[in-house]
Amino acid sequence: MFNRGEGWQYDAISELKPLVTTGGHVWPAARHLAEFLESELDKLNIGRPGISLIELGAGCGWLGVTLARNVASIASICLTEQENGGGVSWLDHNVALNRSLPGVDKIHVRPLDWDACIHPSSSTVESSLHVIPADVGDSKTSRRAPACAAVIDKVDPETGRPWDFILGSDLIYTEKGCEALPRVMKALATPEVTQILYCHTKHRFDHLDLKFFEELDKCGLQYVEVNRSDQLPRPASPPPLTELFPEMRIAVYNISIKAFPPSSMLKMD
Ligand SMILES: C[S@@+](CC[C@H](N)C(=O)[O-])C[C@H]1O[C@@H](n2cnc3c(N)ncnc32)[C@H](O)[C@@H]1O
Repeated sequence: MFNRGEGWQYDAISELKPLVTTGGHVWPAARHLAEFLESELDKLNIGRPGISLIELGAGCGWLGVTLARNVASIASICLTEQENGGGVSWLDHNVALNRSLPGVDKIHVRPLDWDACIHPSSSTVESSLHVIPADVGDSKTSRRAPACAAVIDKVDPETGRPWDFILGSDLIYTEKGCEALPRVMKALATPEVTQILYCHTKHRFDHLDLKFFEELDKCGLQYVEVNRSDQLPRPASPPPLTELFPEMRIAVYNISIKAFPPSSMLKMD
């Protein structure tokens, strides 16, 4: 837990535990993204009333709880995790630890496994999206819903609105993730509405950085690294695979559907 004593309250509690997944503790990119969102709240227009927000690979839920606790106008926050390795239970447990904080009642935890949303037999980008209607898995039909069914939809079931923001932090560390994550982002995004903010640790695995950005492009998504407006722009980091031991750097990427960015994205450039 860290607290700067002014501005947002950074008092969300997270228990730490070694898990089979990497979600057993809060990663530095989650803290970096929270501070970025606090600093750019007005430009991003996150404080407008009634917005719906979804986080992918939420881990301990620290970022979602921090947002819920500090931005009263958000209508609904959907925190997602994979069921494999106990990811969803651990997320549920951590959100429950924070139930006494204001705003946490608008958090909904749902299973969403990116791999389960990608059609394994397809090689093309468009047809590889295996978007499963939210109503599959109705207990009356006794059909078993795949893990992603509950939320792999462009509309927030709580508000009936498209997702205004898709958030994620430190999610790229396997080849499979590089392919699956952009497809899930694309499947959830609505043109001119959805803004995706992904906080990434660059140069942890240069070859995965390259692959992730190539896959975003293949999926029809555009991306740009964005800086806080109260800080001087950082010098560009070296292109991937050009230095033997490049310094790792946490960077926020603003991602949206090509040619259809939301107006708040334009304000960031
Ligand atoms: C490095 S952790 C980051 C957790 C959190 N975002 C943070 O910054 O503290 C990566 C997270 O992605 C989740 N993840 C990895 N592969 C996934 C998949 N196929 N579907 C859903 N979540 C996945 C892991 O369970 C883990 O919680």
